[in-house]
Amino acid sequence: MTATPSDIQAAADVLRAGGLVAFPTETVYGLGADAENPAAVTRTFTVKGRPPSHPLIVHIAGLEHLDAWVADVPETARVLAERFWPGPLTLVLRRSPRVPLEATGGMDTVAVRVPDHPVALELLKAFGGGVTAPSANRFGSVSPTTAEHVRSELGDAVDFVLDGGPCHVGVESTIVDTTGEVPSVLRPGGVTREQLEEALGRPLAVDSSSRIRVPGQHPSHYAPRATVVLVEPGDVIAEAQRAQEEGHQVGVFLPPQFADAPVKAHAVAVVPGSDAEYARELYGFLRELDQRGCDLIIASLPAEEGLGLAIANRLRRAAGPRSGR
Ligand code: TXA
Ligand code: MG
Repeated sequence: MTATPSDIQAAADVLRAGGLVAFPTETVYGLGADAENPAAVTRTFTVKGRPPSHPLIVHIAGLEHLDAWVADVPETARVLAERFWPGPLTLVLRRSPRVPLEATGGMDTVAVRVPDHPVALELLKAFGGGVTAPSANRFGSVSPTTAEHVRSELGDAVDFVLDGGPCHVGVESTIVDTTGEVPSVLRPGGVTREQLEEALGRPLAVDSSSRIRVPGQHPSHYAPRATVVLVEPGDVIAEAQRAQEEGHQVGVFLPPQFADAPVKAHAVAVVPGSDAEYARELYGFLRELDQRGCDLIIASLPAEEGLGLAIANRLRRAAGPRSGR
């Protein structure tokens, strides 16, 4: 059930008291804490099982609050914030002293965004300050896109869960570092490279590989319990059948062009034809195949343009080596 105004007031009180509130955003559910309360921020890391060196995103109610959290706002950042906020874009900027080092992993920069979800915005307004929020899942696992995902994964470790229904973007925000000479995309996400380039009027470098670029970018992020194997779209059906015959409980991400083909596997998720829909369903599919007892997931990558870039990035990481978890 969607959060009521009194739920939102209660959640803001929990934040004020130093508690943790899971709340919906347009991308994924976040695990919120008062950004100016180091003890609350630190508890976020404990609950997630995340190393404290991995910086968090500070969520604010609007662009008008940005100056309070950062040392300066370069022109590039201003242009992007005006164009994409509220929305799935996170800007990395130089930190103001207001941001505790607990939130930034000790770094001198801070990641900030204005989420585009009515419940998140109401919560931020009711609370009045900044809210640090990583995705509300355990470190390294699949991000939650429903309140039920949060409850089943974090349970009583969270003081309050605001339900805002399923997230409509479904993959995390795009992170752009605007502290250097040239803006660079640290994580592809809900705002596409094409949209950023159009807004800036120039091309951008995007690294969608599993290379570790910033703390928190371990290759094995976003991983389900099942092992994820990536193959060419045309090989998905044959590979699934082979693994199933070898005794695996195979889950398949069936490319849309083969939606009607017979598949020998334990469970099948038919990939939607549109990337927007695919992004929305992606994490739910991974969770569902886990729940249905699959030990192996066979998938292929979408074309790496538009939202396909973020989807491919998450699939690569889900398939990445698990040692970093
Ligand atoms: O869509 C999202 O961004 C969601 C929702 C809840 O807003 N949040 C999210 O948070 O994905 P999290 O903690 O799962 O991912 C935040 C990423 C991490 O990879 C972290 O390394 C990066 O942001 N990050 C945070 N602060 C940074 C900084 N100062 N410099 C570079 N990267 C930073
Ligand atoms: Mg995360």
